[in-house]
Parts: sequence; C-alpha cells; structure tokens
Amino acid sequence: MKKKMIVGNWKMNPTTLEEAKRLFKSIKNDADTLKATDVVLCPPFVYIPALLNTRTETSVSIGAQDVYFEEQGSFTGEVSPLMLKDLGVTHVIIGHSERRARGETDESISKKVLLALEHGLRPILCVGEKERDEQGGHLETLKQQIKDSLNNVPKKHIDRLIVAYEPVWAIGAKEAMNPLVVYEMSLFVKKVLSDIYGHDEAISTPVLYGGSVNFRNAPDIITQGKVDGLLVGRESVNAPGFSELLKAVDIL
Ligand code: PGA
Repeated sequence: MKKKMIVGNWKMNPTTLEEAKRLFKSIKNDADTLKATDVVLCPPFVYIPALLNTRTETSVSIGAQDVYFEEQGSFTGEVSPLMLKDLGVTHVIIGHSERRARGETDESISKKVLLALEHGLRPILCVGEKERDEQGGHLETLKQQIKDSLNNVPKKHIDRLIVAYEPVWAIGAKEAMNPLVVYEMSLFVKKVLSDIYGHDEAISTPVLYGGSVNFRNAPDIITQGKVDGLLVGRESVNAPGFSELLKAVDIL
C-alpha cells in the first residue's frame, strides 16, 4: 500500500530554537508510531541543523521552505541545494504562494525545481489558482502555471517530484476546499502532468492538497479528495492538533 505523505510547513514559526526543538520532539514521538504515513517537517532554515541533530532514529524527514537555483557563488541571502543536501535535508518546498505573492516567478521556480531534482532532493512544487470563476478560467490558469513551473524539467528526473495543489484563497482561511472539489482538482493536476510527462509518470507523482487543513477535515480530504497527502500550515505548529491529524490520517 502506498503511504500517505503529510508535510508540515512551519513557515516563519516558532520564534525560538527551544520552541522549535520542543515542537519537533513532540511531533516526532507521534510520527514514529505511524504505520502508513510519511511525515516531512519544513522548519525555517536556521533551525534545520539543530533539528537534524536531534533526529536520530526517527522516520521524520526534514525539508526546507525554499532553495536557490544556483549551486554556489555571490548570491547574498540565498541557500544552495548542495548545502541542504549536505546537511541531510531531503525535501524542499518550491513556489509557495506566499513567495509567489512577493515576486517569485514560474521561471525561477522551474529552475529551482530542476536543480533540486538534479541534486537528489524531492521538490514539493506548490501550485494553485488565486480565485475560481464560473466559466472555469481557473483551470486554464492552473494548467499554465504547472507547465511553466516545470518548464525544462525533463522526464528522467521527475520520479522524485511532489506536487502540492493549494488554492490560494483556501490558504490561511477559515475553511478548506470541499473534499469533492479537491478530488476534481487533483485529477486535473494529474491530467496536466500526464500531458507533459505521460500517464505512468502522472500516476506515480504524489499530489498533495494544502489550504486550511486541520485534524477535523484531514480524513475527508484524504478519503473523498483522494489525494496522496496533505501540506499543512497552521495546524503543523499546533502540536496537539497535528498529533490528532497524524493519527486520524494513519488509520484511513
Ligand atoms: P494553512 O497553510 O494550512 O495555514 O492554510 C497551508 C500552506 O500555506 O501551505
């Protein structure tokens, strides 16, 4: 059976290393009891080395929240995929809508995805429409975004690709997308991937849903939305809620 994947995007939280260690430890204890769920935590860059050090004997993987599209050089403030790989980071979120909103383009995203894949990282490529319209124009927007974000990314590398479908209007919102619509949209994402890379590649690429996921709505989103996993923001820094979520998803 294919394991479900739960990715916690901590964003710019918490504000001290002590809290980050505490949160990590508590999630790790639950995550290590799961049978059918892989857990990936994406803390801020500065906490990654310390969390990797406390990580011995755990199934929890560590991801970053961004990466740069060059290996090294004069790029002040940027972090190279080689540095992440060297630390033991395995995953990286690329193209999150909060970064797109501050100027990240499909062009830089596609370069980041390619370099991450070339260096053996698993990119979690975030895509999603800003709004929906009755005529279905958002489907065209989403399709173009996926194509542009994967521009020049060859088929031979995409076995490690993960796509997170996150409708922007559902991120940080009160409610998640209706699980049945999540199902339609995840099929659409697979269809676009299939157009680019072929049927088999599309089927084997995990598609996650993200946007206001919590321990209450997670089971329906997985079962009715038929996604391979979830990208969780706020609930991933709420230790009790995230623990409930992991347990609820694991028994599905
Ligand atoms: P949220 O964030 O779960 O707080 O809505 C999701 C995300 O931004 O990945």
